[in-house]
Amino acid sequence: MFRNSVLVLFIVYLAAVSAVINTPLYKRRFAKERQLLPQPPLMSNETFWFTQLVDHFDPNNDETFQQQYQVIDDYFDGTGPIFFFLAGEAPMGFFNFQEVQIWNWADKFNALYVVLEHRFYGASNPTNDFSTPNLRYLTSQQALADAANFLTSFKAERGLESAPVVVFGCSYSGALSAWFRLKYPQLVVASVAPSGPVLAQLNYTGYYSQFSNSAAPDCVAAAQTATNQIMALTTSKSGRDQLAKTFNSCSNLENPRDLYYFLYTLTEALGSADQMNNPPTWGLNTTCQTLTQTSSLLDNWAQIVAGGQTGCQDYSLKSFIDSMRKTNSKDQDGSRSWLWQTCVEFGYFSTTYPGTSVFPPTLNVEEQVKWCEEIFDIKGMTPNIAWTNSYYGGQQIQGSNIMFTNGLLDPWHLLSVNEPNLEGTVQAATYEAGHCGTLIQSTSIDPPSLIAARAQKLSQFNEMHTLIRFPCDNVEKRGSWT
Ligand SMILES: *[C@@H]1O[C@H](CO)[C@@H](O)[C@H](O)[C@H]1NC(C)=O
Ligand SMILES: *[C@@H]1O[C@H](CO)[C@@H](O)[C@H](O)[C@H]1NC(C)=O
Ligand SMILES: *[C@@H]1O[C@H](CO)[C@@H](O)[C@H](O)[C@H]1NC(C)=O
Repeated sequence: MFRNSVLVLFIVYLAAVSAVINTPLYKRRFAKERQLLPQPPLMSNETFWFTQLVDHFDPNNDETFQQQYQVIDDYFDGTGPIFFFLAGEAPMGFFNFQEVQIWNWADKFNALYVVLEHRFYGASNPTNDFSTPNLRYLTSQQALADAANFLTSFKAERGLESAPVVVFGCSYSGALSAWFRLKYPQLVVASVAPSGPVLAQLNYTGYYSQFSNSAAPDCVAAAQTATNQIMALTTSKSGRDQLAKTFNSCSNLENPRDLYYFLYTLTEALGSADQMNNPPTWGLNTTCQTLTQTSSLLDNWAQIVAGGQTGCQDYSLKSFIDSMRKTNSKDQDGSRSWLWQTCVEFGYFSTTYPGTSVFPPTLNVEEQVKWCEEIFDIKGMTPNIAWTNSYYGGQQIQGSNIMFTNGLLDPWHLLSVNEPNLEGTVQAATYEAGHCGTLIQSTSIDPPSLIAARAQKLSQFNEMHTLIRFPCDNVEKRGSWT
């Protein structure tokens, strides 16, 4: 998420978070959601440290680092399964509100709940800083190997070798969860992968095109009208000055790259409102209400960008790049790490082209790829999408006992799996809400499709129950998980 709009959110959440989250495309709006939604019950969430290999793929490198994990044993009866949550692109515990249902399921199945922090996020730093040479140890493959190494040692250390494990995640870590079952099927009996974008994509026009399907027609029309007004103003100096004034810019918008970043920030603030559109807050409705509250659409949009913050907005691209170039881990909050992963493995650059969305149609992929090069000082840097998709299989992911759930109002469902495969070994359920909706706290106004998606998961756990107790006797059952 970009700094300007994010800064706004973070002023409010600073007490809970150590620094300003700067991540471009992924963590949009979660901060607001995080504040409004219930967290899991506070329990014996003891934190431990695991001595982890820095590089799993170089046999000559025996360097180690301390990786953080958490064990919640309140529900564990000594014989139940292990529910293993892979934390994603933030400090472990930051996405707690997206784990509430797992706690409930752990209760129901007397499970031991274990959370592993992702390398290069939170306190789990393999290297002393986040310089470009050090970031070579930050890949999803290394993260999966961390999880495998950790899980094997943890089970041995606690005498839980025979306990079956179900792996969980959400969002990026939802994809990791699916990939963990794919690549290490002997370690986990099943994967739950809510909102996991398993398809890497460079030119992600879907992110902003989704808005037209998620928002109410009057809101979509207002966004288009406002965009037309903005684009007309960008063509003259006086128009750009007017835009700078309306959107409270700290500086003028004469540099074309600042103008790009300005339009990017505006688009992000409004166009990502569908991602976290979950009950009970239904954030998209609130954003749309703000956009349409008066006929001064640009003033309304500016209010959405400001998000309650007063003071001018920094739309300078250089400020953004400079903040992302800082390599001291104390100056970073996960944003540089996540940007690295998108620049190396996933892309996910949200773009707009004429006819693809109701937002300014100037956000091309080339400019965003250039940011990778400038931030990490690697000439010609561009994510290797083809490798990522051939390594994991994209939306044709193979494997078994993998369950996806996706919100149809959330753009990320476009890069996930929304239909079961023919063999029934990969399951999928969709529902009418946003990101990771199946894992957040239930509310009295949940749409029936969301209730059903949660129930489908639960029924699959029930189905797996015999399998969880006697994993070796049910090999066949594992194949058909419906
Ligand atoms: C663990 O629980 C404490 C309260 O008991 C809470 O303050 C803390 O944030 C929790 N830590 C994590 C990582 O969830
Ligand atoms: C990105 O997608 C848009 C819309 O489909 C297309 O017009 C554009 O050429 C694509 N750009 C690249 C670099 O693939
Ligand atoms: C949100 O907006 C949609 C579409 O306008 C509407 O159907 C729904 O009832 C609204 N939800 C809330 C909680 O206001």
